[in-house]
Amino acid sequence: MAPPPEDNVVVSQLKLEKLLSMKGGKGESSYVNNSQAQAQHARSMLHLLKDCLDGVQLNRQPEVPFTVADLGCSCGSNTLYIVDVIIKHIIKRYEASGFAELPEFSAFFSDLPSNDFNTLFQLLPSYGGSMEECLASDSHRSYFAAGVPGSFYRRLFPAKSIDVFYSAFSLHWLSQVPEVVVDKRSTAYNKGKIFIHGANESTANAYRKQFQADLAGFLTSRSVEMKRGGSMFLVCLGRTSPDPTDQGGAGLLFGTDFQDAWNDLVQEVIIIAYISSTISSSVYSLMHI
Ligand SMILES: C[S@@+](CC[C@H](N)C(=O)[O-])C[C@H]1O[C@@H](n2cnc3c(N)ncnc32)[C@H](O)[C@@H]1O
Repeated sequence: MAPPPEDNVVVSQLKLEKLLSMKGGKGESSYVNNSQAQAQHARSMLHLLKDCLDGVQLNRQPEVPFTVADLGCSCGSNTLYIVDVIIKHIIKRYEASGFAELPEFSAFFSDLPSNDFNTLFQLLPSYGGSMEECLASDSHRSYFAAGVPGSFYRRLFPAKSIDVFYSAFSLHWLSQVPEVVVDKRSTAYNKGKIFIHGANESTANAYRKQFQADLAGFLTSRSVEMKRGGSMFLVCLGRTSPDPTDQGGAGLLFGTDFQDAWNDLVQEVIIIAYISSTISSSVYSLMHI
């Protein structure tokens, strides 16, 4: 008989990072074609982003490149749009400040190794054109591009190498499921669920601690990597209720519906595994008659 959902498979921290990703490619259900909501929210915050960029210290040595990194860039066009906005804004600042020579620009697109970087790179406009052409059109880019695979909860770049960090709609992804949440002996045990809506206080605290530890890892790493005078712009998901176990609205959708889908998948895998083990033991018995 298939085991109950409480016995769902738990993957280790490393495996989670290697397994999870947005849906790659350019198909109907891909992230490329299903990230308009994030695009819309990011566009509504452009004035805040530009305020933040106005505070970035401009480098007076043109031989040192100006570097931008998008952490949790995924594979859609949102990251390309934002990086373009950032670099064009900085170019305008350089020009307005009367610098004789502009630096070169580098953009680092960073995400977990399982991200579909191939699709992202196919969407990149080509490099080159005059500065005027780059400023006027989206078919050219005025920066060198590189992908950086890895978790943003650890170091990704050399010390003091990045001028602007941007990260949107990504920091709510924890690095791992807190261990106590899957420990049946713990008061924080969440009965095999993958969301905390309606969970007890211990479960909520376990998730809070994980978030705090993850965010500390993120900020510590960035503090080493950021150049003096650099800036960071973070967009994080929040909830309207102060109660951490009230996921409300979209949280409920992403919680309960995913829970049902997850349970179905787990049951399917368990049943398939059960059927194949029954078949192989029957074959084994037949071979030994
Ligand atoms: C909802 S997407 C957001 C993509 C993009 N920033 C946007 O605004 O459309 C969240 C991204 O965060 C990435 N992510 C999650 N945890 C991460 C981690 N620890 N390190 C790096 N990227 C991570 C996911 O792989 C995913 O591509």
